[in-house]
Amino acid sequence: MPIRPVRVRNAHVTLRPTLVHRRLATLGSRRRALPLRSRGGASRIIALLLAPLALAFSGSGVHRTFHGLAGTPPMGWNSWNHFACDVSERLIRETADAIVASGMRDAGYRYVVIDDCWQIARDSAGTLVADPTRFPHGMKALADYIHAQGLAFGLYTDAGTHTCQGRPGTLGHEDHDARTFAAWGVDYVKEDWCHAEGLDAPTQYAKFRDALARSGRPIVLSICEWGTNQPWEWGPRTGQLWRTTGDIEDKWPSMLVNLDLSAQHAHAAGPGAWNDPDMLEVGNGGMTDDEYRAHMSLWAILAAPLMAGNDVRAMAGATRDILTNREVIAVDQDSLGTQGILVAEGPPEHQVWVKPLRDGARAVALLNRGSLPAIISASVERLGLRTDSVRVRDLWVHAERGTLTRAYRATVPAHGVVLVRVTPVARR
Ligand code: GLA
Repeated sequence: MPIRPVRVRNAHVTLRPTLVHRRLATLGSRRRALPLRSRGGASRIIALLLAPLALAFSGSGVHRTFHGLAGTPPMGWNSWNHFACDVSERLIRETADAIVASGMRDAGYRYVVIDDCWQIARDSAGTLVADPTRFPHGMKALADYIHAQGLAFGLYTDAGTHTCQGRPGTLGHEDHDARTFAAWGVDYVKEDWCHAEGLDAPTQYAKFRDALARSGRPIVLSICEWGTNQPWEWGPRTGQLWRTTGDIEDKWPSMLVNLDLSAQHAHAAGPGAWNDPDMLEVGNGGMTDDEYRAHMSLWAILAAPLMAGNDVRAMAGATRDILTNREVIAVDQDSLGTQGILVAEGPPEHQVWVKPLRDGARAVALLNRGSLPAIISASVERLGLRTDSVRVRDLWVHAERGTLTRAYRATVPAHGVVLVRVTPVARR
């Protein structure tokens, strides 16, 4: 579809010609421009009028029929962010136990994925060998253990000659590795892109997709080439998720970079095909709990995979509460499968992000990227809800905020978010 120029009508605030314009340009072929109006002047009250969202989202995967893997964004846990190469059978078993005991499994976390460094060599038959010191009972036994907990099992490999940590890669062994993974009971494979010089990403990932299909076991394919070969163009026909960014770090600016990068490709996401801004850092210690709540909320707005990356065996209560907030998870997992978008920003650091939900409600995140608390206001006047009033529920405080007709306004902590569900209550 050609991208039409965006016309901003009735604009009283000059949009920052950066992210919003790129976003509007990306979605411009299917949406109207968004009117913004400043009410607060020098005060810290920013009024942000929301777009007619029914139009805004009308082409973004909403009407796809989906039958297959990852109908909603995959959820689970991955070893890399916290443990890097320090993986073992014991860690994975204890983690699976903790995912069950903490309530994470029942909240939806399903895939337990061992990232790089589990593999040590290939044997004389060409089969990948798990490090026998760290995984003395082998991968099949570990998969059986994980399945017995009501969880699913994932492994990491690399499309090139070696993994990023120098372990054997899958290049030239696609069918053999797919068969091996299927025989072990693997349900999810993350395929990385190190040591892949000279290879064509769409071709290599399609090769592995086909090998997985031939293995006869339904296996989620997580494409991990860091957004370097426009995976949002070929990812939807190749795997169930594709990284849109480099590796996340457990720092506020890194989380925001990954948010902004992944946000540019909302049009590509839908049931069975998800932009992946990388795994969660919630609970790893580099951000405040407000920052982690924002991280979790924004991943939910983006319909991003929710792969926890912390030590779940020893997590604080606050971390558990963030990861298992079912109202926030329900936003991420909403069956409509539409990736939310940035619809307005006042000063650049005060933003409104919106995700339409299956029942016609909207999840709305008021994001304060700044380092002082701020009042951010989202007008309901043009939510595209054909309604005179809306009911607002705060998804972190778990409280109704009343029925409103004009705007929802909240104080948002520095580096924080207020996440609400806005439901139409009276139709015109
Ligand atoms: C790359 C990936 C990370 C992780 C490491 C493992 O950097 O992007 O997510 O898998 O490799 O070596």
